[in-house]
Amino acid sequence: MRKPIIAGNWKMYKTLSESVDFVRELAPRLASYTGVERVVCPTFVALAAVADALKNTDIRVGAQNLHWEAQGAYTSQIAPTMLQGLAEYVIIGHSECRAYLHETDEDINRKVKAALAYGLKPILAVGESLAQNEAGETQTFVGGQVRAALSGIESDNMQNIIIAYEPIWAIGTGKNASGEVANAIIGGTIRSTLAQLYGNEIAQSVRIQYGGSVKPSNMLEYMSQPDIDGALVGGASLKVDDFVQLVESAAKAKGL
Ligand code: 13P
Repeated sequence: MRKPIIAGNWKMYKTLSESVDFVRELAPRLASYTGVERVVCPTFVALAAVADALKNTDIRVGAQNLHWEAQGAYTSQIAPTMLQGLAEYVIIGHSECRAYLHETDEDINRKVKAALAYGLKPILAVGESLAQNEAGETQTFVGGQVRAALSGIESDNMQNIIIAYEPIWAIGTGKNASGEVANAIIGGTIRSTLAQLYGNEIAQSVRIQYGGSVKPSNMLEYMSQPDIDGALVGGASLKVDDFVQLVESAAKAKGL
């Protein structure tokens, strides 16, 4: 069975002290949900302190991006080597990075390769815009993003990659995709693409999250879908009570 994974993407929220206070409060409340993998992705500034605060827990830490080079003259960027020992996961290809930082499919492919080469696990984010969705292009576009991001990645690595389907029109808008629609893209489009690339066994074993306006009130709907293995959560991951409820719902829906 694929172990559910709930990751909080804190984006550009929470100062260093707010981040540490938050995980100190969160960790004991999540301690009993061992059947669900629980991940927090703070800003780079808070990464070391959060990792330290969580070191005696099984709550995992993720970064929100990385550069593909091991080091170099790239002002403002963070190398995979710098994340080693601090983060287990790293979000790659978030639509906000694609849009505002102009990250291309090629950049994202380089980042996925770099993360894997340095022992970090990518949470690869894909998803279509509202215009693409309305034009009926979702399947082709999302399938293409998955293929591009995984170009040259060997099947051995697929157990270390999480995919997050985040339709852009659902992020931070309160307009979430229904559980059925999200499941159809995740199961139909993304797993089918993985099956074409790596065969059915691997396609069935890769964990795929939904993201976009996930909240305690709709979490059960997503987690009750057979192909959805968790969530990548923005806003609702910033509140301890909401985070706990998301994990609780995941455990309940999957009978854990
Ligand atoms: P919201 O949960 O705030 O819609 O954000 C989703 C997201 O972008 C997670 O990466």
